[in-house]
Amino acid sequence: MNSGTMTLQAVNKDDLQKLSELPMRLALQEAAPFLAHLVEDPSFLEAEIHPLLEEARGTGGDWYVDHSYEGEDHSYSLQVFVWPPGTETMIHDHSCWGVYCCAVGSVLEERYERLDDGCRLDHAHLKKIWQLKWSREDGASSVLPNDGGIHRVGNPGDSVAISVHLYGPRLREVDGRDYDPSCDNVCDRRED
Ligand SMILES: [Fe+2]
Repeated sequence: MNSGTMTLQAVNKDDLQKLSELPMRLALQEAAPFLAHLVEDPSFLEAEIHPLLEEARGTGGDWYVDHSYEGEDHSYSLQVFVWPPGTETMIHDHSCWGVYCCAVGSVLEERYERLDDGCRLDHAHLKKIWQLKWSREDGASSVLPNDGGIHRVGNPGDSVAISVHLYGPRLREVDGRDYDPSCDNVCDRRED
């Protein structure tokens, strides 16, 4: 990941901290409109998003987190993802709640659930339950921690997409887990 620091002129850090301290269901309810509003904010778009577009058009590489803003002790993380055409994540989950919203273009999200009971180490049997294309007009998608938000996000289109993600406090030490449905495997994902 090519992660830099966000200046965050258009975002009130206290708002993010307060959101991160809410009970999870309430936090998700408030985080979704917060992000949907943020990606409509002209000053945020001008400062944080538009400068990325030109740079992203020339990369032709994999998706990346261009910059992020971290709360203390993993209380929250606001991240800007850049999705060149044809890129996608592994199937994964997060050790926290999460909300994301497109600022430019659209992404495709595939959502999965586990069919196994989770008692076998490193084993997970997945079933795809839905897929949706998200654009700015569609508002924010949200995931619950761990098994409640197993998904893959990607950009199957032919132009760059940029999305803004807000993650809540971590419930586990690791960032989340990656899944390989071809061999029913799951493993912890540690930060690089
Ligand atoms: Fe994710």
